[in-house]
Amino acid sequence: MSEITLEAVNLTKKFDRKMIFKSVNFRLSRGSSTAITGRNGSGKSTLIKIIANLLLQTSGSINLHINGSAVKKELLFMQMGFVSPYLNLYDEFSGYENLKLVANIRGRGHDNIENVLKRVGLFERRNDMLKIYSSGMKQRLKIAFSILHTPDILLLDEPTSNLDTEGIGVVDDIAAEYSKDRILVIATNDEHEKSLCSSEINLNKNA
Ligand SMILES: Nc1ncnc2c1ncn2[C@@H]1O[C@H](COP(=O)(O)OP(=O)(O)OP(=O)(O)O)[C@@H](O)[C@H]1O
Ligand SMILES: [Mg+2]
Repeated sequence: MSEITLEAVNLTKKFDRKMIFKSVNFRLSRGSSTAITGRNGSGKSTLIKIIANLLLQTSGSINLHINGSAVKKELLFMQMGFVSPYLNLYDEFSGYENLKLVANIRGRGHDNIENVLKRVGLFERRNDMLKIYSSGMKQRLKIAFSILHTPDILLLDEPTSNLDTEGIGVVDDIAAEYSKDRILVIATNDEHEKSLCSSEINLNKNA
């Protein structure tokens, strides 16, 4: 199994002149699970988007090393899975087609589409267009997206929002699996989601 480290060095984010967080440092490796916590507006979603390379930091760096070699920023998306309230899906396509699109983009995960649909409990509804999915069904599809390519790093922003008890159980299982020998990061203030992680980065102290 490859050795992986994901580190943040003096990571700082400002929007215009407003400081969101300052000098965040961490170093995560395989077998870790980390909750990013902090009050509403403290920058949890912002930090997770920066880790996923969807947003640029103001200063500092995010570095991913696999077996000691730095992974290029533009290739990070191959190693990462991401669930977020800000993730957009295609309403005019079915659940199955949405997953196929992302497998095409990555060139990976085609043979896993049925598996993940079953895992999140959407297999029966795979051919329905997303515009008729309920909010919990859309959340389940986001989770399917994030694990389609079995990434080494799984980034979850409020993963259980809109989910029922069974859906929360699916997240629990995935969190247990990914924290065992991959890297799991959850941005949350929810006590249950926090309990899925063994360490915590609290952003209240960093503003
Ligand atoms: N594009 C943007 N332009 C300006 N300010 C922004 C932008 N995106 C976020 N912010 C601000 O950055 C701060 C952090 O927002 P963020 O969504 O990261 O917080 P959060 O910790 O995830 O909050 P919550 O607990 O509500 O999910 C907030 O003050 C927010 O208004
Ligand atoms: Mg947030």
